Amino acid sequence: MVAAMFFYPYSFTPKMAAPIGREMCRKCFSQIVQKYPLKSSISSDVLVRRLHNVPKKGLNVLRYHPKVAFSKKSQIRTFADDAGRKSRLLVLGIETSCDETGAAVVDDRGNVLGEALHSQKLVHLKHGGIVPTVAQQLHRDHIEDVVQGALDRAGLRLQDVAAIAATVKPGLALCLQIGVEYAKKLVRQSGKPFIPVHHMEAHALTARMMENIEFPFLVFLLSGGHCLLAVARGVGDFLLLGSTTDEAPGVVFDQVARKLKLKHHPACSTLSGGQAIEVLASRGDSQAFKLTVPMARYANCDFSFAGHKNQTYRLIDRKEKEEGIPADSDQIVSSVNDIAASFQKTASQHLMQRLHRAILYCQQRHIIPQHNKTLVLSGGVASNMYIRRSLQAVTDRFGYRLVCPPPRLCTDNGVMIAWAGMEWLKEGRGVAEDPEAVEFQPRCPLGVDMSTDVLNAGIKTTPKIRIPS
Ligand code: KG4
Ligand code: ZN
Repeated sequence: MVAAMFFYPYSFTPKMAAPIGREMCRKCFSQIVQKYPLKSSISSDVLVRRLHNVPKKGLNVLRYHPKVAFSKKSQIRTFADDAGRKSRLLVLGIETSCDETGAAVVDDRGNVLGEALHSQKLVHLKHGGIVPTVAQQLHRDHIEDVVQGALDRAGLRLQDVAAIAATVKPGLALCLQIGVEYAKKLVRQSGKPFIPVHHMEAHALTARMMENIEFPFLVFLLSGGHCLLAVARGVGDFLLLGSTTDEAPGVVFDQVARKLKLKHHPACSTLSGGQAIEVLASRGDSQAFKLTVPMARYANCDFSFAGHKNQTYRLIDRKEKEEGIPADSDQIVSSVNDIAASFQKTASQHLMQRLHRAILYCQQRHIIPQHNKTLVLSGGVASNMYIRRSLQAVTDRFGYRLVCPPPRLCTDNGVMIAWAGMEWLKEGRGVAEDPEAVEFQPRCPLGVDMSTDVLNAGIKTTPKIRIPS
């Protein structure tokens, strides 16, 4: 069953506008259909306000409605506005690089017309990690429904879109294969152009869908699969300042959570490893254990999390031993909150130091103009508020604007792929000459590797920026 997928069976009158892209949540939609006549002339803002009992005056409904919260009020479209919609450029995007099967249709103004997503996260949580063959089968089982769901929700047929975009790199080979093959099938059926998309580039460009962010800007991606700092100079034009030399932070948060047996913790059983660590860390003392900040002596912007994880593992082993807890039991050490807090703080310090250097490097090399100092922060780990606050301390110090896409666009989804395809299409580039010849690439770094130049710049990150309490 495809989660988070629902359809708009009705055609609304032009007067019944809905907040574009994020549409109404399922609850609002069904209640609106039940309570109000379809030819109602009440705007959806008013309807949503009524359904959520939001007082009328002086309050912004967008703050009370999570699905609408990242929608700009100005971006209103009418569902029956077929003529207008069709005259716009539309791209269908397909994402299958890891553990989400996603599809979406976006227009050239950054409106999401329809979206569907099937997440495999719960399945992989049970396996204790992603098993590529399981992930592949789940993509295979859901891709058709997800793509059709996105088109149905947009009220469109495949023929209505200008192009089909799909993630072709980087990612898990077995997973990429499903999306690429399915996209090629649609391209054969429809004769539409095919735009192959780089997954990380799509993460970086998503923020431009909602805000006016000019190139060049700084990008920080932190997730279960990625960890990188880059400069986005244009579509398909990136400078890679640093990336992880071993593991990505999300994976390490997950592994430490597993070592701490947090799925047996009453406050954490339904949370991802990273979320569980964040919750417990907020109850703990981050000074309780002194852990070493990774790579503090390396004057580059690369990352390492494996050593930090092993040090935390050793700490957990020691504490379990002191308390006589067998490693294979469900029992959790009493200092779990302090361990989580110390682990999270040290990881944050590592991220802060790398960002600090990246900003100084851009300053030294005049890469980011004074009037456009912007950092786009994205990825599942970026939803950690402690980490976000820590990184904001760095951006604040240098007068950078920090832009974080809303959580559901930070994690993998079809919207970001559709939008990346749109960015290429708008520039009249990126369309595959021979769609059948497009191959997926499990490994593919983002942009030009600048890591040696960063190191050679010999940039010191003193004085250290403190994490706000
Ligand atoms: O971007 P994402 O949803 O997908 C993949 O990378 O596939 O990131 C998922 C990762 C998981 O490892 C999860 O533990 C981590 O992001 N994560 C967090 C938090 N929420 C999710 N890590 C730290 N703190 C969080 N609040
Ligand atoms: Zn991703």
